[in-house]
Amino acid sequence: MTAVELAAAQRSLDALRAAAAGCRACHLWEHATQTVFGEGTRHAEVMFVGEQPGDKEDLAGHPFVGPAGRVLDEALEEVGIDREHVYVTNAVKHFKWKARGKRRIHDKPNAAEIAACRPWLDAELAAVRPTVVVPLGATAAQALLGRAFRVTAQRGAVIETTKIAPFVVATVHPSSILRAPDPAARHAAQREFTADLAVVAELLH
Ligand code: URA
Repeated sequence: MTAVELAAAQRSLDALRAAAAGCRACHLWEHATQTVFGEGTRHAEVMFVGEQPGDKEDLAGHPFVGPAGRVLDEALEEVGIDREHVYVTNAVKHFKWKARGKRRIHDKPNAAEIAACRPWLDAELAAVRPTVVVPLGATAAQALLGRAFRVTAQRGAVIETTKIAPFVVATVHPSSILRAPDPAARHAAQREFTADLAVVAELLH
C-alpha cells in the first residue's frame, strides 16, 4: 500500500470502529457490555479471525486479551510473529453468553448472528488487505470458507483465494487447547497449533 492508501485505511478503520460501537444489526448488543472491534496495525500482513469476544474481552473491549489470547500470544512468539504486526478480530463482535450461576458462559453464535456481523469483517478485510487470513476455529473458518470446510481435516493447509486474501490458513481455536483433558494432550495441541502458525510465518517471509 502507498502512504495515501495507508492513511485512508487508518481513517476507515477508525470510522468503522466508531460505527460498530453502536451496531444493532442483531440482538446480541442487548446483553453485551460493548462492541469488541478488531485491533492491530492497519498494514498488518496477517489477520486472525476468532469466533466472538469472551467474557474478559467483553469487559475490556479488546479482542483476545483473555486466556485464549494468551495461548495465541505464546504461539505467535514461538513462530516469530510479533503481535504488534498483526490484526486480530472476530466473526461476531458482541459477546453471546448464558448465565450459569453468577458466571457468564460462552454461547455459540448462530448463522443469523454471524451473517448480521459479516459486513464489519468484510470492511476490516477491505481496509487492512492482509496477505494471510487465519480463521481460528470452525465458526470463523466456515464463515469465511463455507459450511463444508472442516478445520480438523484442513487445518494448516495453504488455501489461495481471490475474495478474502491471497492466502487463508485455518487452524483450531486457541480455547480448544485450554479444554484439552490433561497436560500431555494440551502440550500436543499447543504444538500442532504452533505448527499451523509456522506455516503462516513462512508465508510472511
Ligand atoms: N475467543 C474468541 O474467539 N475471540 C476473542 O476475542 C476471545 C476469545
